[in-house]
Amino acid sequence: MYGMINLALEQMVKQGYGADTWEKIKNEAGLDEVRFISMKSYDDKVSYDLVGAASQVLNIEANELLEKFGEYWILHTAKEGYGDLLKMAGDNLPDFLKNLNLMHMKVGSVMPDLIPPSFEVQDLTDKSLTLIYSSKRAGLAPMVVGLVKGLGLRFNTPCEVNLVKQDNDNSTYSFNVTW
Ligand code: HEM
Repeated sequence: MYGMINLALEQMVKQGYGADTWEKIKNEAGLDEVRFISMKSYDDKVSYDLVGAASQVLNIEANELLEKFGEYWILHTAKEGYGDLLKMAGDNLPDFLKNLNLMHMKVGSVMPDLIPPSFEVQDLTDKSLTLIYSSKRAGLAPMVVGLVKGLGLRFNTPCEVNLVKQDNDNSTYSFNVTW
């Protein structure tokens, strides 16, 4: 994944726990020498190793950490670094979720190595929807929960996000989103 993902994790840990803790996590992941570059693509293993090490050092379940990270990404990283892109993608939760593929396509036009997830909105009512998430990567569904909750907060429609179906073989997950 692009370095911006690892850098966002770095920022979240440093803000919450300090720079020394981040050094410990990098060390634990065998990455002490690495200085991440936002627009460089890294092996996915680097991100998984960082999450694993952070989970150990901070004593937080990896899934809980991924959810927190998803929320942090929306409320801090994306807001500060990609505000215009976020504004273009919609001003309410359902519209924004419908635009996620287009948004990642735009991201992909400047990041040629991007392997984006894909999303589909179904069963839309004025208080709920089903979000289908598919990915080439395993284990990131908890991050989607945090991302969507973060978007709910961004649009002043705090939401509940529950995993209702999962197909681990093709990493496809359905979430019930209510607000
Ligand atoms: C301005 C905002 C955004 C930017 C610049 C961005 C960019 C990226 C980048 C660079 C990656 C790593 C993939 C790679 O390097 O191959 C990624 C992954 C991902 N993005 Fe976004 N993204 C944004 C917003 C969002 C939002 C709002 C969601 C909400 C659901 C989202 C969901 C995901 C997920 C779940 C992944 C993990 C990859 C996977 O599942 O395979 N992103 N995004």
